[in-house]
Amino acid sequence: MYSDVFCKVYNEFGWNYYPEIFGQQLLTWLQRRNLRPKSSMDLGCGTGILCNILHSNGICAAGMDFSAGMIEIAKQGNPDISYEVADMVSFCPDTNFDLVTCTGDALNHISNLSDVKRIFENVHRYTSPGGYFIFDILNEHEVSTSEPFEMDFSETTRVWFQMTRPEINQVNLKVRVFESGQLQLEENIRETIHDPAVICSFLQQSGFIVESCTDRLLEDSNHGTTWFIIARKPYSIADS
Ligand SMILES: C[S@@+](CC[C@H](N)C(=O)[O-])C[C@H]1O[C@@H](n2cnc3c(N)ncnc32)[C@H](O)[C@@H]1O
Repeated sequence: MYSDVFCKVYNEFGWNYYPEIFGQQLLTWLQRRNLRPKSSMDLGCGTGILCNILHSNGICAAGMDFSAGMIEIAKQGNPDISYEVADMVSFCPDTNFDLVTCTGDALNHISNLSDVKRIFENVHRYTSPGGYFIFDILNEHEVSTSEPFEMDFSETTRVWFQMTRPEINQVNLKVRVFESGQLQLEENIRETIHDPAVICSFLQQSGFIVESCTDRLLEDSNHGTTWFIIARKPYSIADS
C-alpha cells in the first residue's frame, strides 16, 4: 500500500516519466494499427499520467488504484476523468472498455499467482470483444539493485532510497522520508518478478489471444527494461 507521503514523493521524484513514454508509444501503436478505442481503463493508474494522455487524445479514459493518495493526485490532475480506489484483484466493473492497460510494473505488486489469474479473468470480462489488454511486467534480466542514495526534495525534506533483491524473484524498494532531519516515514515497496511464459499462459487460459510479449512496445523503438504484453479478446470463440 502506498501511503500518502510516499505518493507525494512518487509524484515529485520523476517516476511519471515512465507512463509518459508508455502513453506516447501506445498512441503510436494504436495509430499504426488504425485502432480507435473509444474507452480505456488503467489498472494501478497511479498519478493518472497515462489516463491524461489517452483522455487528451479523444479516448474516454478511466483509472483505478489501490492507493487513495495516488487517486487524489490523479483527480487533481484532471477532475473530468473517472477514477476510483479499488483492488484490481477483485475489480470487475459492469462497463466494458475497448482498451485496458496496467503499466509501471503495477502487476508486479501482485505477489500471488492465483490473484494474477483472477485479475486476467476479470479483465477478460470487462474488455470489449476485439479490445486489447496491454501491460508491462518487470524483466528479471533488467532489474537492478542499488546502493542507498539520498535526494533533497525541498529545503526541509530529504528522501533516502535503496533497491534490493531479498529473494530471487523479489524486489524491494525501501524509502525513508526525513522532514527537518526527523524520520517521518519508512516504506517498503515489495514487487514480485513473474515469469512471462506463465503470465502468457494465464492470459490464454482466461480467453485472450497473446499477440506479443517483447521487450519493446514499438518494433522500431529501443528495448525497455520490462516485458510488454499485448493481448486481444477475440470477437467470438471461433475467432480464438
Ligand atoms: C509503480 S506504480 C505505477 C503507477 C502507474 N501505472 C505508472 O505507470 O506510473 C504501481 C501502482 O500500482 C498500484 N497498485 C498496487 N497494487 C494494487 C492493487 N492490488 N490494485 C490496484 N492498484 C494497485 C499502486 O498503488 C501504485 O499506484
